This record gives sequence, structure tokens and C-alpha cells, in this order.
Amino acid sequence: MPKSVLVNVAWPYANGPRHIGHVAGFGVPSDVFARYQRMSGANVLMVSGTDEHGTPLLVQADKEGVSVKELADRYNRQIVEDLAGLGLSYDLFTRTTTRNHYAVVQELFRGLYENGYMIKQVTKGAVSPSTGRTLPDRYIEGTCPICGAPGARGDQCDNCGNQLDPADLINPVSKINGETPEFRDTEHFLLDLPALAGALGDWLRTRESWRPNVLKFSLNLLEDLRPRAMSRDIDWGIPIPVEGWEENNAKKLYVWFDAVVGYLSASMEWAYRSGDPEAWREFWTNPEVPSYYFMGKDNITFHSQIWPAELLGYAGLGAKGGEAGELGTLNLPTEVVSSEFLTMSGSKFSSSKGVVIYVKGFLKEFGPDPLRYFIAVAGPETTDTDFTWDEFVRRVNNELANGWGNLVNRTVSMAYKNFKEVPQPGELLEADTALLSLAEETFETVGSAIGASKFRQGINAAMRLVGEANAYLAEQEPWKLAKDESQRERLATVLWTALQVVSDCNVVLTPYIPHIAQQVHETLGREGVWAAKPQIVEVTDESPRTPIGVGLPEEGQTYPVIMGEYDAQQAVWQRVDVEPGTPLKKPKPLVSKLDPDLAVTGPEWAPVQPSA
Ligand code: MF3
Ligand code: ZN
Repeated sequence: MPKSVLVNVAWPYANGPRHIGHVAGFGVPSDVFARYQRMSGANVLMVSGTDEHGTPLLVQADKEGVSVKELADRYNRQIVEDLAGLGLSYDLFTRTTTRNHYAVVQELFRGLYENGYMIKQVTKGAVSPSTGRTLPDRYIEGTCPICGAPGARGDQCDNCGNQLDPADLINPVSKINGETPEFRDTEHFLLDLPALAGALGDWLRTRESWRPNVLKFSLNLLEDLRPRAMSRDIDWGIPIPVEGWEENNAKKLYVWFDAVVGYLSASMEWAYRSGDPEAWREFWTNPEVPSYYFMGKDNITFHSQIWPAELLGYAGLGAKGGEAGELGTLNLPTEVVSSEFLTMSGSKFSSSKGVVIYVKGFLKEFGPDPLRYFIAVAGPETTDTDFTWDEFVRRVNNELANGWGNLVNRTVSMAYKNFKEVPQPGELLEADTALLSLAEETFETVGSAIGASKFRQGINAAMRLVGEANAYLAEQEPWKLAKDESQRERLATVLWTALQVVSDCNVVLTPYIPHIAQQVHETLGREGVWAAKPQIVEVTDESPRTPIGVGLPEEGQTYPVIMGEYDAQQAVWQRVDVEPGTPLKKPKPLVSKLDPDLAVTGPEWAPVQPSA
């Protein structure tokens, strides 16, 4: 049996189209990882969906003057198109407003409640005096009571990383309209984090492979753990499955309680959509199967603390004991892979500030792989990184077009012109074998980097091989050999060697730039699907088992999901021999060069802002 790997990707809010900052954080890294794992023979399940509850949607719906359901439907579809267009190879990308998701979330809640980890308490809730509406934690800003930093949010201070309550903030103001919130008594269900702290700590201390910043941050959080509200005063969300609360339309589950359960519910939906409703269990209850979570750094707490706490409590593994719920004892995260922010001229990408480059516009003008390449090689993997058109143009033109595109083009052109097919090599000289063995080592170098989520290190190693192959051509000068009839065998050997290395480069570049990889596959005279594309499929919200829960969405809504037949692709993580005698065609250019003016002006739809 191949090794199984679960790839869980953060769920974007369906409150707007995706901008390139979003996909730099969760999108491209997770897809490079999943594609590499599949190519290495792993049985991969990669899931996500749109996060459709919570105030981010309410606020946007108000702004647009539409109902929140209408908003969610529209942006769910838009986001599905953005992500599929980028080639992100989800096994299932769904949404949180499905019957299945509601039922699974309520099952988790009930399990926690029955084990005693959901406690009812009166808390102080922030209310907007002008609208009477509750203000969500994230929409209240003030000074951090712990470190004194300004701009701390009601749930957390990004400066010191501490978890906060809106009522703790000094001089709290609403980010929506600047007014000072009122705090009123309100009853809620709180996740008993103190009762789970011991189990959380024991588990965190086994996570030695985590990036040190994530581990330290997560361990620090344990120092001051308080119960945390998992319900909210809001009418848009999943009903609370406790008697007397089910029908209460003013209180729903907290969006973060619900969203993280999406990984599990989406795995279950994937299982029934792919014909084996029990198939999710392998990924969640086989302790040998690792799970990798990809997200931006502002999501770490929810994945290294809240979600593991939900899982531990559901399994009955906290200080209050208890029993595993009917889904069983579910696996805790193996790795939490977070990225930093992609900024533009220093400010965090934000639609509200108007500094924004949408994925849609980007795809329309440049196609998916230039952006994928840019994010891998120059994205915010370990530090906040500024996007500039200047660097984008430079990277695409010098590296993708002149480096990689040109290598493929001139190698195949010369082979086609002189032999019409992959030539039969003669005896290999040292220069040939040196390049071939570097290529062979590159599989391991790039593979182990990607396996360790060091995506930039991986692409740099792949591009180093591209550089060496270009240098090899410059030294061997096959264009000169072609003019001398007596050098025909040497010419064949050099071009065969170069073609083999082009093929090797293409394998290791496939997780990063799968669309270009498919083209190179065809350029090498090969047929069929090398790197599979995700597909958008319209589905109906129905499951083979009637979901058990309260206040579920109505049966029969239709929505788009991303799925794919990744098993049908040929891509493998090993050398594919180039076969002498394979017919070749005159190659088409692989990567179009960008107009250098773009570096200065930006495109019309996202012009470079004059510096203030
Ligand atoms: N919607 C959240 C955000 O954009 C992320 C949710 S990730 C998940 O910040 F854990 F809930 F899936
Ligand atoms: Zn602080």
C-alpha cells in the first residue's frame, strides 16, 4: 500500500475574490507539496473550501447591499475559479455551507460537550452602540494590555502573539466605523482550554520538526490559557446543538470552531463523492498517516492550539477524561506550515486599503505558472516579502523565459533540425556524465527540500540544474558541431544528454509549474497527461447518509467544487529516460517574455502607485 498523506489547506473567507497575497500564503506552497507527494507515489488527500460564516461575510454583505447567502454563493464560485485557474490540485475544494459540514461540526461540538470540555458561562460581549450588532473580536482594535502595542485585535495581538479578549483592550474601537463598543453580558459556550493544556503541551513538546518560531509561539500560548468562547452573538452560522439553543437564531457557533472542522468534513465529503464513504478514515484515524496544514501566519493559533484542543477534547484526552466520540480518535496535526505575508510597497495586501492585485486579473494576463514561479522563488516563505512588478518581470524574463524556456527551446530545436527525433548517443564524455549525475542528484535535493516545506530551496536547486545545462550547451557548442559532418556522433551525444537533462529538469519543476511542465512533456515528443489539472464540477448537496444535525441548510443546493483525476497523470519523481527515435516537432516558445515597461508601470488594472 502506498503511504497516505493528508494535506489540509486553510479555507479562504468567501468575502471577496482572492488576491495574490492569499494564494502566496496557503495556495501555491500547499499545491507544490501535494504534487510532489503524489509524484513520489503517496496516496494524497488534499482538501479545503470556502469559509462562509462569521462576520467577515456579514460586513461585506452589508457593504454590497446583498444577503449574506448571495454573497457567499458569488464569492465561493469566484474563488473556485481563481484557485482552479492557478492549477491548485485539490482532491476536494468545497464550502462550509453544506449539510455535511454542519452535521460534522455539530458532532464535534456534541462530543466536546459530552466530555465536559464545553462550558457555559456569562461573558462580556462587544456590541456596536449604533447598530446594536455584536462586534466580532477581529473587528475591534486597541492597545495590547500585555505589550502595549497599538493595533492589537480583539482576539490576538500580532506583536506579542498573546490571545486576548476584546474587553481586555485598552481604548477599544470598532474597525467598521470607529465607534467605541459597549460591553454587555451574554451567555456562551467556552472551550475549556485549561483542562486541555496538559495534553496540548505534551503533544506540542513532541513536535520537534516544527519551524522553531511556530513551536515557540505555540508553547508560549500555553502559559496563559483561558477558556475561549466557541459561540457568538450572531445570526449567521451553524446552530448550537444543545437543547434549548438549537432554535436560538441570535447565537451560533464561532466561525473558527466551525472552519477548522472543515478539514474533516471535507475529507468525508470527498470520500462519498469518490464512491467510498469510509475512505476518509485512513487519513484521520490511522496514526501512521501524517497531516500537513498550510496557512498564513495569522492562522497559527487556530491550528496549533484551538483545533488540536478540539480534537483532544473530542477524543476524551484532556484532564476531565471522557470518551472518544463516534468518529473515533482523530489524528492531531503533524506539521503546521505557515507563511509570512506578501506585501505591496510595504503594506499588507488588503482589499480595503486598495492595494490589491487580484488572481483573476493576473491569470488573464500572464497565465498561472509565472505567478506560481514567482511565489515559490520570491514569495513570503520565511519573511514578509514585498511584491514588485519590477521583480516579477525580472524573474519571469531572466529565469523562466531566458533560463528555462530557452534551454528547452534550443535543445529541442537543434535536435529537431538535425535529427527530427531524439538522437542515439555515442560514447559519453566526462562533461556529459557530470551533468547527468548532477541531474540525478537533483531529484533528491529538490525532493527533500519540498518534503520539508522548503519550497524556495527546492526551486533554487532545480533552477541551478537549468543553469548548469545552459552552461553545458555553451561549452559543447552543438551549433558548431552541427556544421561539421565528422562530428555527427558527438552532436547526437550532446543533444541526447541535453534532452535527458531537460526531461530531468522538467520532472523537478513539475510541482512548481505544472502547466509549463505539460507543454515540455509534449515538446519532448511524449503524449498524454503528464501533470493533471484540477477540474470544476457542479455538484448537489446530498450525501448517501442523511446527515444528523439541527438547522442544516436545505437539501439540493448546487455548487461548484474543485476535484481532479490526479491518479491518471504520468508525473513521477524519477528520471524518465528519453528514448532515441522518439519523433520531435519544431517547438513552440514556452514562456513569453514580458514587456520591460511593465516593471515600471505595472499593468493597467493594477498600476504601480506613485510613491507618496
Ligand atoms: N478563513 C480564515 C482566514 O481567511 C482561515 C480559515 S482556515 C481554517 O483567515 F482553518 F479554518 F480552515
Ligand atoms: Zn501584545
